[in-house]
Amino acid sequence: MIKLSNNYELPNLGLGTFLMNDDAETKRVILEAIEIGYRHFDTAQMYFNEHVIGDALLASGLKRSEFFITTKLNRHHSKAKTRELIYKSFADLKVDYIDLLLIHWPNHDDKINIQTWEVFEEFYEKGLVKAIGLSNFTRYQMEQLIPHVKIKPHVNQVEMHPGLSQVNLIKYLNDHGIQLMGYGPLMRGNLFNEPYFSVLDKIAKKYKASIAQIAIAWGLAKNVIMIPKSVNKERLGENFNASKIILKEEDIKLIDKLNTGRRMYADPANNVYGNFIE
Ligand SMILES: NC(=O)c1ccc[n+]([C@@H]2O[C@H](COP(=O)([O-])OP(=O)(O)OC[C@H]3O[C@@H](n4cnc5c(N)ncnc54)[C@H](OP(=O)(O)O)[C@@H]3O)[C@@H](O)[C@H]2O)c1
Repeated sequence: MIKLSNNYELPNLGLGTFLMNDDAETKRVILEAIEIGYRHFDTAQMYFNEHVIGDALLASGLKRSEFFITTKLNRHHSKAKTRELIYKSFADLKVDYIDLLLIHWPNHDDKINIQTWEVFEEFYEKGLVKAIGLSNFTRYQMEQLIPHVKIKPHVNQVEMHPGLSQVNLIKYLNDHGIQLMGYGPLMRGNLFNEPYFSVLDKIAKKYKASIAQIAIAWGLAKNVIMIPKSVNKERLGENFNASKIILKEEDIKLIDKLNTGRRMYADPANNVYGNFIE
């Protein structure tokens, strides 16, 4: 578990669900993941699967306090529309509180980010959302937001993997007590290509582990919440077991050297989701 700055705790290894679009398959995956031991699920309004995740969690018989949901608001809107969309997430997920709610992508207009954040604060203050945060915010975008808010973001979820270690952002987040949540930990499969493969494969052999496990263990060693996605039962188990691997400092440093700032997803400073929608 990882304790956020408001003392709320979340499992440091969760299941990513981007591109899980087939309802029957998603339900099967969530139930298998629960059986394996996953308790933290990362979704988003933009993934169009909150309703299935809600169904699966209900069907699992887990008590509400036994699982954790991170979801993300799709784009930016008027305050009224933002409230409406957040309530829709509650209905789709079939929960009476959300563990972590994130702004999915920053708006290009810093004032709009503040406006959206004010609605997040309302939900947080009502206790409907246990922690509030950002996703894909650069340090600059955070600097334009933080001085104007009542409640500092608890989390920033950004792309993070051996090719993009976020070394500078981590320092800034640590200075502000903001938890990093890393997405795309397997580089959407690119970890298995060079120059990553040779370095990771050598380390993986040393720990009798897989390349995916080493990448996940590397993020966990940096105190980052990791959310690998898989629809395959074997790989779900493999990824989950990465938490048992404790990497030596020398191996962490070897992986750190792979950082070239390589992105598999949009650049947050120039993203296509950044326009205000009324
Ligand atoms: N905030 C944001 O803007 C944002 C953006 C992107 C992603 N995310 C979140 O981060 C999560 C993870 O990122 P991602 O889904 O883009 O990519 P990822 O987790 O880096 O990689 C997923 C890919 O790797 C494969 N895979 C999974 N486990 C594997 C293993 N052990 N060995 C080999 N291949 C494996 C998966 O295929 P199979 O499914 O067939 O196993 C899938 O093709 C997302 O699902 C989403 O929840 C957030």
